Amino acid sequence: MQNKILAPSLLAADFSKLYEEIAIVERSGGKMLHIDVMDGSFVSNISIGPPVITALRSLSNLIFDVHLMVNDPDRYLAMVAESGADIITVHAEACPHLYRTVVRIREMHKKVCVALNPATPLNVLDYILDGLDMVLLMTVEPGFGGQSYIPAMTEKIRQLASIIKQSGREVLIEVDGGINLENAREVIDAGADVLVAGSAVFGIDTEKKIMEFSKILNAIV
Ligand code: DX5
Ligand code: ZN
Repeated sequence: MQNKILAPSLLAADFSKLYEEIAIVERSGGKMLHIDVMDGSFVSNISIGPPVITALRSLSNLIFDVHLMVNDPDRYLAMVAESGADIITVHAEACPHLYRTVVRIREMHKKVCVALNPATPLNVLDYILDGLDMVLLMTVEPGFGGQSYIPAMTEKIRQLASIIKQSGREVLIEVDGGINLENAREVIDAGADVLVAGSAVFGIDTEKKIMEFSKILNAIV
């Protein structure tokens, strides 16, 4: 069984001390950092963009998992790739030519991930699964941290895990939204490989919370 990974979501970190927050993740044994880019259009919120990712890149060796919640992300792919992203995630709902977008990310030698909103059916992946390294299932509506996990998403994770298994491909499943210490086990059991967690990690006792997540993640073999 492959390793399960926690990806703390920077959106919930203290933006006035990003360096310290990232240092805590590294000190706690974290491997991946989830970075949410929002355009105020695909989602109503606005967060950070490539210049901040570039600055963070010079400070950290974590795997940068960049989640683009932007309309027509093709406009920004080159910039995001150059900023130091390791994984680039685009939303199926935001890409009029998803196949081409997937190919472009691959050509930039980045890991390719496609995200699906809670109501988006899995069959949008039917003809592109081959080109993906990971699928991100939103387990809340995208745009804001601190929302509650949508229980129906557990079955969606299970169905995607089954589709991937049948395909014989190695595609990871990432879950994002409302993930915490209480439901981590449930999503892992359903088939999730990468767990994004923002408000359940940053705030107080970040180091302790990452350790607690690690115990759950490492208990799965
Ligand atoms: C929300 C973002 C998430 C967010 C998760 O649209 O994609 O990555 O930071 O926050 P929590 O873990 O608090 O739900
Ligand atoms: Zn995200």
